[in-house]
Amino acid sequence: MGAGIAQVAATAGHQVIVFDTNQAALDKAKGNLEITLKKLSEKQKITEQAAKEIFGRIQFATDLNQFKNCDLIIEAVVENLEIKQKLFVDLEATVSENCILASNTSSLSIASIASVCKNAARVIGIHFFNPVPLMPLVEIIPALTTGEAVTVNSKKLIDSWGKITVLTKDTPGFIVNRVARSFYGESIRIYEEGIADFATIDWAMKTFGGFKMGPFELMDFIGNDINYKVTESVWTQFFYEPRFKPSLTQKRLYEAKWFGRKSGQGYYNYAEGSVMPKPKQNEELGKTIFYRVVAMLMNEAVDAFYLQLASKEDIDTAMTKGVNYPKGLLKWADELGLQNILDILENLYNLYSEDRYRPCVLLKTMAKKGETFY
Ligand SMILES: NC(=O)c1ccc[n+]([C@@H]2O[C@H](COP(=O)([O-])OP(=O)(O)OC[C@H]3O[C@@H](n4cnc5c(N)ncnc54)[C@H](O)[C@@H]3O)[C@@H](O)[C@H]2O)c1
Repeated sequence: MGAGIAQVAATAGHQVIVFDTNQAALDKAKGNLEITLKKLSEKQKITEQAAKEIFGRIQFATDLNQFKNCDLIIEAVVENLEIKQKLFVDLEATVSENCILASNTSSLSIASIASVCKNAARVIGIHFFNPVPLMPLVEIIPALTTGEAVTVNSKKLIDSWGKITVLTKDTPGFIVNRVARSFYGESIRIYEEGIADFATIDWAMKTFGGFKMGPFELMDFIGNDINYKVTESVWTQFFYEPRFKPSLTQKRLYEAKWFGRKSGQGYYNYAEGSVMPKPKQNEELGKTIFYRVVAMLMNEAVDAFYLQLASKEDIDTAMTKGVNYPKGLLKWADELGLQNILDILENLYNLYSEDRYRPCVLLKTMAKKGETFY
């Protein structure tokens, strides 16, 4: 992630320093950046001269003192609170008074990182998506303690890099990693109940929902280790909210190291010569799967809006620009009809008597009044 952020910042014209405590990681980042920029110039996305200039703006360092004159530092070290906190303390002792300290954390609270700093007002979350140069979305996350000017300036700066920023509250998973949970969780649940297999669920979401990848293909792509850890983290941080409860199916894949594409085996087998299973292309079943999963996603988006996580526009932008959803979930809910989405959720809730299916109160009141989000 660090190398991707460096590439984007240097492309926007900034002098960048990439820092890592591990020399091998630094060498790898340097090598990869050089290759990436070379490929971009070969494909004529940028000129050869531009590639050289961008690479020339990036320095590689193992000494924190080199950050002395930086205006912004974006931390993207391992996802471990103690390690991040120690780094922020060390950084604060080195950098100038006006330097903004940002974290790219996916799952830790910005407040907890900022809490160790003398000047917590300068600490903010700036959350990129992988691969950084290709994914347009960046979530801007002020903590309770973040200064107003730090938020405004960070957003302005990242916008000037050609990214699309959304402003969100410092809550677990921010927008994308919270709202997207049911795309995976409800799909796994459907599989666990024996309603359909992985290939059929993937087919249904692509065919009837227009998603570029089905949930199981996507989980295998992201990595079942990462996806499981994010789910577990969001669930525990929400005080074990049933809607975010992880599944044993995913946990077992994680324990077996069936991480997906990168390990050669996940929900699917990626060994050379292996044949992908065929979906059962039953339209009625496919539509049932699609409506169940998308209703869960929409309920989550409505809940995020109801709890003032972000504006409705930013919630919709986050899902289309951060995880390539075909439509913003709130706009899509308007199209499908809020009463229809509510009916699906209420049927599930009555059938299972489980809290995970409870509809958001805003969905209920809006459906009753015949209102729409847009
Ligand atoms: N991978 C993703 O898809 C993704 C997406 C968004 C955000 N993030 C977040 O970005 C951060 C990094 O993720 P990643 O996937 O790039 O991890 P990674 O493990 O690939 O890279 C982390 C790097 O941090 C270095 N490091 C460890 N301790 C350090 C220290 N004290 N000082 C300096 N460098 C140190 C490691 O040597 C390693 O090179 C995490 O907070 C993660 O939650 C990751």
